[in-house]
Amino acid sequence: MQGFLTASAAKLPRSPLYTAIRAGWVCSSCKRHGASRLPALSSYQRSFSSSPARTTAAAPKPYYVTTPIFYVNAAPHVGHLYSMVMADVFKRWEVLKGRQAYLCTGTDEHGMKVQRAAELQEVPPKIFCDSNAETFMDLAQKVNMSNDYFVRTTDPDHREAVEFFWGRLRERGYIYESKHEGWYCVSDEAFYPENMVEKRVDSMTGKPFIASIETGNEVEWTEERNYHFRMTDLKDRLLQFYKENPQWVVPATRMADVVSWVQNNLEDLSVSRPASRLSWGIPVPDDPSQTIYVWVDALINYITKAGYPMWTPGSENALGWPADVHIIGKDIVRFHCVYWPALLLALDLPLPKRILSHGHWLMNSRKMSKSIGNVVNPFFAIDRWGVDTMRYFMIYNGGVSQDSDYDNSFIVDRYKKGLQGGLGGLLNRVTRSKAWNFRSIIEQAHGQVLKPADWKLQHMQAEITELRRATECLSQNTADFFENELNPGRALKEIMEVVFQANRLLQHTEPWNLVKQGEVEAAHQIIYHAAESCRIAGILLQPFMPEKSGRLLDRLGVDQGQRTFDHARFGSDSTYGVSTVPLGEGAQSSLFPPIPAEN
Ligand code: ME8
Ligand code: MG
Repeated sequence: MQGFLTASAAKLPRSPLYTAIRAGWVCSSCKRHGASRLPALSSYQRSFSSSPARTTAAAPKPYYVTTPIFYVNAAPHVGHLYSMVMADVFKRWEVLKGRQAYLCTGTDEHGMKVQRAAELQEVPPKIFCDSNAETFMDLAQKVNMSNDYFVRTTDPDHREAVEFFWGRLRERGYIYESKHEGWYCVSDEAFYPENMVEKRVDSMTGKPFIASIETGNEVEWTEERNYHFRMTDLKDRLLQFYKENPQWVVPATRMADVVSWVQNNLEDLSVSRPASRLSWGIPVPDDPSQTIYVWVDALINYITKAGYPMWTPGSENALGWPADVHIIGKDIVRFHCVYWPALLLALDLPLPKRILSHGHWLMNSRKMSKSIGNVVNPFFAIDRWGVDTMRYFMIYNGGVSQDSDYDNSFIVDRYKKGLQGGLGGLLNRVTRSKAWNFRSIIEQAHGQVLKPADWKLQHMQAEITELRRATECLSQNTADFFENELNPGRALKEIMEVVFQANRLLQHTEPWNLVKQGEVEAAHQIIYHAAESCRIAGILLQPFMPEKSGRLLDRLGVDQGQRTFDHARFGSDSTYGVSTVPLGEGAQSSLFPPIPAEN
């Protein structure tokens, strides 16, 4: 076959980017990242070596979190929204902790799936992608995502990164040509071995077809010559890495599947398709008769925006690589936990620190999916319920290990119990009562040692002490769920538990009645504790519900500068208590007003 190369690394032609880098050429992305000249190639090769000599006083690595890049073959649904919100919550958490953090999302635009979708609509693929990528960008904006980057695989800087990566794989002898025969699934953009497909019958038409056992999607037989990646050469290194990093994939059960798959099923990976079949993609450098496999192209997105390959020695981490966490759905675990580390290991590049693979949203017990069509439009959902209600609901109800059912009645339920009754109720009770002056309570109670023994109402002591203990532990517990367990849903429940506990205290002790009975000091202590729970919950809820928490803290009168993680400590702020916004009158003026009745 014309144009194919043999595996001898020494004889391989240089990729254009490689040659350009050697010549000291500065590409557009490099200029953007502020590097004036490129280092010699040998510095790249050295730059990620584990040599202790590199421990200079470099700035700490920024936090870096990513979402998958989504196929643009169809419009986004709430499954995509979930990954977006999840990643955003992680980024905002780090920002709350005072760390520089980067968030990258984007679109996966090449490949057979997109090529066919564009053909079906009789639109040139780039025009098709431009329009659909914009919908994903709109969604990121609509859900208040704080992404620093929106990567598109059709971006020139991404193409440069992929070409460079490919050239390096070839130089290292990891690419060879060979005939490939097997089942390809366009919907999954994946090859499957014989033991991973089966015969099925379409329940609608009665037509038999061959499907992937894992996804149920139709596969088609292909026979072609293409380039392969020597993934089997990396088997031992992969297994060693998994062994040394047992916490790498969350949840742990999926890590076990990954290890077993590598032990039993690892094969070399077909990494290009003939351009005659797949024209919509990045051509193989120096061999345009082949197009780079869409998953190799797509995975590299994560380093494109981290500046690859323009990493200058000493500041390779400046834009965040290695990623702290890749957020993905459980459907794409193998690509991220086997192919991606194998590709990186082949070039001795650092691997992402953790992979969080979450469960799926189901509609009528089936995975919400574009190809099945059982999807909820996330724009409509946000318009109907509000952005922060959706963010709250998705994180609260969404699963990591488990799948979750999507149903409007669940959203209403969460809103009423958690937001309207729980958080809104607590805020109203402490700030709106005519029975006390909220600001004076904060001023006077702050710093006082609780002396329940002085009170006539000792039976309240245990409950107040319990709330205080829970509030004091809250920021650390929340941090553990975020940082160790990678479980924002548990973190959110922990915060809300304190909110519910504070409400229970108010309901049991009825401070408004205590005031009437002359037990003013006890009432004030109770209000102070409930207010501190509300303030600290408000601070910690900012990553989840940025707008609503901001407005809650406004209503509590918490200064803008006192809303950081460090201020989420009991008694750390004595200056709040006067709302900076009008509280208004009536139920509709509440932070979480009642949901209007359905017509
Ligand atoms: O796989 N529930 O893109 P994709 C929860 N382009 N999350 C869901 C979901 C559901 N029902 N449906 C989709 C691709 N997702 C590749 C990724 S990355 C280098 C390339 C989310 O458009 C979830 O994160 O099929 C899932 O992994 C991703 O969207 C798949 O999106
Ligand atoms: Mg998919």
